[in-house]
Amino acid sequence: MSQTSVPGQGANAHTATDATAAAQRAAELRIELARHNRAYYEDDAPLIPDAEYDRLFGELVALENDFPELQRPDSPTQRVGGKPVEGFAPVVHRVPMLSLNNGFADEDVEAFDRRVSDGLRDVNGVNGASGAGSAGGVGGVGGAGGVNTTPNSTGDLFGTPVEYAAELKFDGLAIALRYEQGVLVQAATRGDGTTGEDVTANIRTIKKIPLKLDTDNPPDVLEVRGEVLMFRADFDKLNQAQEAAGEKVFVNPRNAAAGSLRQLDSRITAKRPLSFFAYGIGELIGATMPETHSALLDWYVTLGIPVNERREVVKGADGLLKFYREVGEARASLPYDIDGVVYKVNRRDEQDRLGFVSRAPRFALAHKFPAQEALTTLLDIEVQVGRTGAITPVARLAPVFVGGATVTNATLHNEDEIRRKDVMIGDTVIVRRAGDVIPEVVGSVLDRRPADARAFVMPTACPVCGSAIEKLPDEAIARCTGGLICAAQRKQALLHFAQRRALDIEGLGDKLVEQLVDQQIIRTPADLFKLGVAKLAALDRMADKSASNLVAALEKARHTTLARFIFALGIRHVGEATAKDLARHFGKLDNLIAVCKRDSDLTELLAVPDVGPIVAESINNFFCEDHNVEVIEQLRAAGVTWPESEPAAAAPLPLAGKTFVLTGTLPTLSRDEAKAMLEALGAKVAGSVSAKTDYVVAGAEAGSKLAKAEALGVPVLDEDAMRAMLAAL
Ligand code: IVH
Repeated sequence: MSQTSVPGQGANAHTATDATAAAQRAAELRIELARHNRAYYEDDAPLIPDAEYDRLFGELVALENDFPELQRPDSPTQRVGGKPVEGFAPVVHRVPMLSLNNGFADEDVEAFDRRVSDGLRDVNGVNGASGAGSAGGVGGVGGAGGVNTTPNSTGDLFGTPVEYAAELKFDGLAIALRYEQGVLVQAATRGDGTTGEDVTANIRTIKKIPLKLDTDNPPDVLEVRGEVLMFRADFDKLNQAQEAAGEKVFVNPRNAAAGSLRQLDSRITAKRPLSFFAYGIGELIGATMPETHSALLDWYVTLGIPVNERREVVKGADGLLKFYREVGEARASLPYDIDGVVYKVNRRDEQDRLGFVSRAPRFALAHKFPAQEALTTLLDIEVQVGRTGAITPVARLAPVFVGGATVTNATLHNEDEIRRKDVMIGDTVIVRRAGDVIPEVVGSVLDRRPADARAFVMPTACPVCGSAIEKLPDEAIARCTGGLICAAQRKQALLHFAQRRALDIEGLGDKLVEQLVDQQIIRTPADLFKLGVAKLAALDRMADKSASNLVAALEKARHTTLARFIFALGIRHVGEATAKDLARHFGKLDNLIAVCKRDSDLTELLAVPDVGPIVAESINNFFCEDHNVEVIEQLRAAGVTWPESEPAAAAPLPLAGKTFVLTGTLPTLSRDEAKAMLEALGAKVAGSVSAKTDYVVAGAEAGSKLAKAEALGVPVLDEDAMRAMLAAL
């Protein structure tokens, strides 16, 4: 007799007393676990707690250990990975895995659509089409289109426009999944298109890929083709974990996906968060091929194979270009990288008639976005000084066209980052420019490192003012200690002071600030208010009109609010929200200055909502510096004013001393909004319920916190009750 031995198994858990019972239970468990996998990975809606899943899983592992004959390739236990292998066995693709022709400009798409409709018309009438119908058949026609007739301009002059399936071009790696009788039996990489590598053990660890198709009537053979990729959030998490473990970090999600799939130890792959989207088909035996590409993908969905939802059936070049633009706009907000879109003639029979040319189908086109990453040479690393003295290393690059613009500089963030990315001067580097994000150096191509590559050395003196550069042990950022002596910091401080959310001085841009500081016309923000039209008009790129506009803008900016003024001062860690809190709390600027100058006791600053020890210390330090208070005095003398009020703290806040805990989802307020409402009235919002909790505010799906509150007899409010309580205060 054999028994399952699973730690922590409940008293009424199944005990397999014989092989038949074991087989039956294993089958039940497989179905059950597959159902939970789908709920978790595809629907994002787990049906049971993780611990319960683990218990069922453990039960199946134990059964398969006790009865090895029960081990099956489609068992979820296969997903944890197995023993390392020496290498990957070659797999010859029964249907070659081809690549796609690329297009970049609108004209390329129009030409493609024209080729397709001409080709279809041509094939109908005149020739039998080269390579038609045979996968990989090499057409005898040179160039990309088998065109003999006069091309028409719109592609649909002689009939209805061609119907296309438009989808995303995922930036991962191609994979072929072979299902026999509905069970995943083999997974292979593309390789050279003819022969790939057997990565079945690794693919089995990807939870989104079904080990068994969701049908009672599977085809004898179905070879699903698609892309393995890594979502950006998963990539970031993986890199954080790699870094914490002192392991190599990956430059981008694609490399992380490729590296994870080529692991010889599938237990490592099992820990990597890989994803998959299907987009094509290889061999199909024992089922009818769907008539269109879109129907094929619909069928996949019913089989439980992941297919991306962003796909459309469109007509003609106009439809294709519309899809391209819509996806282009959404690109930055997609949770994974794409490098373009793919268009495929939708009807299978039309695809077959068009056939292939060279290594790519005539019926498809990859319409690529401008590359977001490119290779170039790192010529040098210089440092830039920010408003608070932060020293940022900046890469000087050989000009490179990336993300739709020519890039010559890119940020390297800080010294640690340079070490972490192992970037040296002279290296070939990968530069990334995505959307509006500042270009950055992602990493170096190590096998192209020249012998004379140099490591970056952080300067010890500020390149602008010569003051010492200092780096606190627990900070990543090095800083220039020059403060406002440093012209670089002064320029940044002035720009900060003038920005829209601060004093809002319209027309004071960086070129002007540059001149004003470099020609020593102004030193501090107070000097701005001494500027006259004549002096300004004498500057480069300034005319009388722009000079008097600026003087008018300065006049307007004199009348501001205390919150804007505090924000404009550029105190480290004091953003707009904190500036507002300080203004409300102290009412008058002198109250704030007095608190800071009194002694180094931070208690009163800490009483301001959302001000913690680091912020309090920074505020205190700022006002302890006499030169900062002097600039404030000069600004007041120059006529900068704001309405002052009584300090809010004069009367104790009505909820001072009360502790609240928020749990669950409130009907209309976000967690942060509810917290802000409570804190504004002096309450403390804590993370866990204890005997000291005064109230718990509970919304939908409140869990253990609610239970604990009830157990401890802590009053529980819903959102309405909380609002009523606050309104009554
Ligand atoms: S179809 C014969 N569809 O792009 C056509 N490919 O440049 C085979 N790719 O190796 C490919 N998204 O790795 C197709 N929606 C998509 C795709 C896609 C990404 C990749 C695939 C292929 C490469 C071709």
